[in-house]
Amino acid sequence: MNITVVGTGYVGLVTGACFSEMGHHVLCVDNDARKIEMLKRLEMPIYEDGLQEVVERNVEQGRLNFSTSIKEGTEYAEVIFIAVGTPPGYRGQANLSYVEQVGRTVAEHMTSYRLLVEKSTVPVNTGEQLKRTMTKYLREDVAFDVASNPEFLREGTALVDAFNPDRIVIGVESDRAAQLMEEIYKPIVEQSGCELLRMNIASAELTKHASNSFLAMKISYVNAVSRVCELAGADVKQVAHGMGLDSRIGKQFLHAGVGYGGSCFPKDVDAFVHLSDQIGYDFQLLKEVQRINQAQREHLMAKIQHELWVIQDKVVAILGLAFKPGTDDVREAPSLYFVPQLLEAKANLRLWDNVAAKKFDEIHPGLTYIEDPLECARGADLVLILTDWPEIKNLDLKALKEAMKAPVVIDGRNVFEPEKMEELGFTYYSVGRPAT
Ligand code: UGA
Repeated sequence: MNITVVGTGYVGLVTGACFSEMGHHVLCVDNDARKIEMLKRLEMPIYEDGLQEVVERNVEQGRLNFSTSIKEGTEYAEVIFIAVGTPPGYRGQANLSYVEQVGRTVAEHMTSYRLLVEKSTVPVNTGEQLKRTMTKYLREDVAFDVASNPEFLREGTALVDAFNPDRIVIGVESDRAAQLMEEIYKPIVEQSGCELLRMNIASAELTKHASNSFLAMKISYVNAVSRVCELAGADVKQVAHGMGLDSRIGKQFLHAGVGYGGSCFPKDVDAFVHLSDQIGYDFQLLKEVQRINQAQREHLMAKIQHELWVIQDKVVAILGLAFKPGTDDVREAPSLYFVPQLLEAKANLRLWDNVAAKKFDEIHPGLTYIEDPLECARGADLVLILTDWPEIKNLDLKALKEAMKAPVVIDGRNVFEPEKMEELGFTYYSVGRPAT
């Protein structure tokens, strides 16, 4: 099948690459000409494991192409996926201007039936609005459908997730739309054996919000438990392990730490709170999820303050800037909270994150980056761990202690074991476990 994907961010590019790998012919469209030029040169605008190879292979085999023209995209395929950004807008509501613009432009150029599929995370009822917009801007009397097909892939493992989804959700209003979607996903359903769920558009839109917010809630829950563990002398890792073995609870997303970040959870929880509010439900539970997430950062900052006493002129080595390992994405990353705080307190910062340094430097230019984590810690009064990269997990702890001016580690990801750190003579603070 021919498929157009509008938007070449994480979701759009991975979706387009994945569809082409499945044998479809895909045109990826973006209005950012610089990005499209990069992609035509086979340079990836984002870091995602395995993406480069899949894009290269499919471009070479002629199944994947790029364009800046939505008009061309509209002519190219019967099915058009919208995977443009939905950044936070006025008062936390998602800004849907890019989505609207795609709908409008497709309507203006289509001359026969088109299926417009929402892939970006959008508030419930966006499908309805999209239909109204399309109807208003259509130049010819042609039929169209709108569908919702939320994406559940994670950054860092996006391709693995795209080829092995837990489920595929499609929200449709006609059999024609359902058949087209089934046709597109047939190879993945056959290969992975996952379920393809058909529901109405509003339910599909809500499934995405409800899923992301639930995962964020799980993280905030375990982070709240971690605070009780600290007060009660318990170890949150052991508690979470004990909880997670209950199959009704599940092991995943129970890692206590510095709180969730990234381009999805903070924005999506906020958007879900606002859209619920708008349609008449005060989602207090999710407001508390947000408060706990913020409190986690503040709590760790208080530990740093307590340990260093005077922050001014102290050498602080920060290991990990990305919001999680496996990505160069620093959007809403905890590092963006700690770095300005520490700079304001006049700490002398040394930073390590070979993958995310470039993106971080675009936001905070002129800071000191060191390419080796051990070297980064050399002469430090305190090491702060914010991302659990394997390079940090594999650090030679004896060498780390020798390299530091004072052996103090504040671990926002519970990478090391307190007993081991105590044995080696570190002052070690982690999350929800006894300090040493
Ligand atoms: C998340 C969802 O997991 C995907 O299913 C969804 O498709 C995606 O958002 C999206 O809406 O596009 P992602 O933002 O890539 O994916 O990252 P996650 O792996 O979910 O991690 C989010 C944050 O939670 C990270 O900062 C991570 O460090 C933190 N986290 C995760 C914890 O603090 N504890 C955990 O146990 C798990």
